[in-house]
Amino acid sequence: MKRIVVVLMILTLAMALSGVVLADADKPAVAESGAVDMEAAKATFENTCSKCHALSRAMAKKKDLAGWQATVKRMSTNHRIRFGEEISQEDQEAIVQYLLENAGK
Ligand code: HEC
Repeated sequence: MKRIVVVLMILTLAMALSGVVLADADKPAVAESGAVDMEAAKATFENTCSKCHALSRAMAKKKDLAGWQATVKRMSTNHRIRFGEEISQEDQEAIVQYLLENAGK
């Protein structure tokens, strides 16, 4: 019985690891260089951040990287409370980059 559990754990781990490797291989080259697809980030921001209030609530503000990270993290918590799930890590990062470059102008 114990051996089956161990084998299952190893299998699960192996699948999880290969999933990570595959996901990495699928990422476009731009993401690797640290560049952000701003068109996609804009769409993510507009879809996600207009659910509860106007986009201008964010666009009117100027914040630094840490400031936007903190705000988006807090909004992700608001999102979980209202819709049952956090904003994905990937979407949060894209939104932070979008706001850093485009908000408060
Ligand atoms: C689930 C609803 C909800 C979603 C989704 C949401 N917000 Fe908010 N937002 C709020 C509420 C409620 C407040 C006022 C209370 C607060 O500041 O937490 C607020 C306030 C703000 C403020 C003003 C306060 C500050 O820290 O400057 C900004 C900026 C903001 N949101 C940006 C965003 C961004 C960017 C997103 C998308 C990542 C977003 N919001 C998504 C509910 C939401």
